[in-house]
Amino acid sequence: RNVSSVRIVEVGPRDGLQNEAKILPTTTKIEFINRLSKTGLKNIEATSFVSAKWIPQMGDNVDVMKGIEKVDGITYSAIVPNMKGFEDAVETKTTEIAIGGSASETFTKKNFNCTIAEGVERVKSIMKAAKEKNIKVRGYVSTVISCPYEGKIKPSEVAKISEMLLKAGCYEISLGDTIGVGTPNSISEMLKEVLKVAPVETFAIHYHDTYGQALSNILASLDLGISVVDASVSGLGGCPYARGASGNAATEDVVYMLHGCGVKTGIDLELLIDAGKFICEELGRQSESKVNRATRKI
Ligand code: HMG
Ligand code: MG
Repeated sequence: RNVSSVRIVEVGPRDGLQNEAKILPTTTKIEFINRLSKTGLKNIEATSFVSAKWIPQMGDNVDVMKGIEKVDGITYSAIVPNMKGFEDAVETKTTEIAIGGSASETFTKKNFNCTIAEGVERVKSIMKAAKEKNIKVRGYVSTVISCPYEGKIKPSEVAKISEMLLKAGCYEISLGDTIGVGTPNSISEMLKEVLKVAPVETFAIHYHDTYGQALSNILASLDLGISVVDASVSGLGGCPYARGASGNAATEDVVYMLHGCGVKTGIDLELLIDAGKFICEELGRQSESKVNRATRKI
């Protein structure tokens, strides 16, 4: 492979739980994140400071961020869609936030109730405030292959939004195949265009597994030098405003594949499987991770 180590960004507590029908008690979410902290993960997206009217599953965001045991060397981040969310980030001493962008007008409207242009203005005010408070900002670009409302998205549009977010001050861009329709070919085509605007180290990938392509797409991305991968333990979740979107690539499966290919992650697979088992039992659902099912029969 083109990379020898990969940094995994665990998005299960946010992307995972935001789309689960069952709303878990705050204490369970805290226990889940504390377990993830013991696996060797260095980046955990713990929650999102969004409106509970839009995403009730994240309604206890402040309590979750305040309640978790923050281990030195691990970054606990959260999505911030507007200045109200930013205030929550400051109140909870969150050191890294994530902001969203998409090349699709309709997706932006459904997800953040604004136009792309208004979204850019929100991003600018959040970035300015984050700079003042010394908070790192990660940028998401969603629907990088296709939008559930507008269809195919041009790679050049993805490159344009990525460039805008980088110029605004994001330190990293996570490229989201929100509805998981990409294949290694369309993913590589998109990445080649995006890599024209910034070095490969600037980009992370965030692939949902709706069509069972996430692992193959991750591998295709690694071959182009990508070394930061978002994943969700046990393949939980999806985006509530992208109908039919299933969870991200399951972290257990990604780690199993990478270790099998000789790529280091620093993650203890056994402890990760335990964390996946724990959260699936709490949700009363089966794990979407093949590795978890193969080893634990849940
Ligand atoms: P809005 O309704 O236009 O906002 O929503 P508003 O300013 O008119 O406020 C409406 C109410 O919400 C008010 O309460 C506000 O106080 C409250 P009321 O006065 O009616 O009682 N409110 C808030 N409460 C808590 N925290 C806040 C906040 N803001 C307003 N931050 C808004 C606009 C952006 C808030 C809304 O659209 C929203 O919360 N959207 C979030 C949607 C979301 O989280 N989507 C999923 C994440 S994106 C994703 O999953 C994709 C990704 O994984 C990448 C990929 O897969 O591609 C990242
Ligand atoms: Mg997502």
